[in-house]
Amino acid sequence: MQLKIRLYGDPCLRAKSKPVKEVTSAERMLIASMFETMRAQKGVGLAAAQVGINEQIFVIDTGHDALAVVNPRILRRSGAQSGEEGCLSVPHLQVNVERAKDLEVEFLDEDNNPVRARISGLLAKIFQHENDHLQGKLIIDYLTAQERRQVLKDMKDGVYMGESNGHEDMRA
Ligand code: NI
Repeated sequence: MQLKIRLYGDPCLRAKSKPVKEVTSAERMLIASMFETMRAQKGVGLAAAQVGINEQIFVIDTGHDALAVVNPRILRRSGAQSGEEGCLSVPHLQVNVERAKDLEVEFLDEDNNPVRARISGLLAKIFQHENDHLQGKLIIDYLTAQERRQVLKDMKDGVYMGESNGHEDMRA
């Protein structure tokens, strides 16, 4: 089932997500719907907060790796990478964000099994973008104050409204 993606201004995007007690069939159904919604929007990542559910769950599909992540923790960060990121909740906006290149992470998978892994590159970048969503943080927060004022003004003028055009590199 495709879910409605919440857009910038929706309070769900700014709330802190709560840990999941146990991954059950209810969470697995949500995860399946999140994968479907993300793929329909040609996204590479989607957090539950973006569909109005403030639980610590996100999905990633780089085209190479597909991952469902519950209750993530980033244990270690190293190196650096940066590049333009887009967000399904803020259509048309691209922000250059500096991220760690390599991560050591732990989380629960969709079968409630604990996973500990080292990830890097695009997968690590999306993991950090989605982890931000669980804290109520958005790509707009990486802009300078001046850039943010301009973007908020453009939003008021309707520049960022409507369907994404699909030309952005990474939407998550
Ligand atoms: Ni996003």
